[in-house]
Amino acid sequence: MAEVVILPGTPDEAKAAAGELAADAIERVVRARPDAVLGLATGSTPLPVWSALASRPLDLSRVRGFALDEYIGLPSGHPESYRAVITREVVDTLGLDPALVHVPGDDGGPIETAGERYEAAIAAAGGVDVQVLGIGRTGHIGFNEPGSSFASRTRVKTLTAATRADNARFFSSPDEVPRHCLTQGLGTILEARALVLLAFGEAKADAVAGAVEGPVSASVPGSAIQLHPEVTVLLDEAAASKLRFADYYRDAWDNRPDWAR
Ligand code: GLP
Repeated sequence: MAEVVILPGTPDEAKAAAGELAADAIERVVRARPDAVLGLATGSTPLPVWSALASRPLDLSRVRGFALDEYIGLPSGHPESYRAVITREVVDTLGLDPALVHVPGDDGGPIETAGERYEAAIAAAGGVDVQVLGIGRTGHIGFNEPGSSFASRTRVKTLTAATRADNARFFSSPDEVPRHCLTQGLGTILEARALVLLAFGEAKADAVAGAVEGPVSASVPGSAIQLHPEVTVLLDEAAASKLRFADYYRDAWDNRPDWAR
């Protein structure tokens, strides 16, 4: 079952607190296994996780990483390619070994079989220990847009108009946002040993409610997390504002057993 944590305070305080909790989960895994495999997400949402982790005295030099997704069609080295974003925001911030961090399609092979090769690389690494997730307004995780099969694996997807409009802020014009991407599938994501999903702000409230409490449906790809036994959802008040059972989640977190603290 999911542990839903609604962090009080200003949006900035809630983000920082969520970052610390996600960093706690990652730190536990890395202390147990210094070459742990992290599932890496791009977007603004996970930034507090990387900054919280970076400020800890933790050796991350052997940690391996697999990004969730990548655009197709950007010129190589484009600053908004997820390869560039992951290098800038995760690899450089955390001091990871760039050779141990992978992004779908970055092995130079044909795009048609990039998904299979990425799946094989994740399997060869022994699977993902902790997958960090944001969520899009359409309910997507990774770039699994509505209609994605819960059994899907890493593959090419077409982005929705809503996702392209949301991500246009990173490009000089909306037309520059690629139409296609490679993304881990929902089936791939569900195989990670633990999921940590973060969401902040009112614009995410519907997607969060659908993912956490809505019917399990391919129409809200994030609802796939309901099928995972080890999920932590970290929210600010605004992102949690449409949850029916918010009071229960607060009560359960405030009164969690000592062994779970
Ligand atoms: C992007 C990414 C997702 C991310 C989502 C939300 O399209 N592919 O992995 O979770 O959008 O982004 P943000 O965290 O910036 O709101």
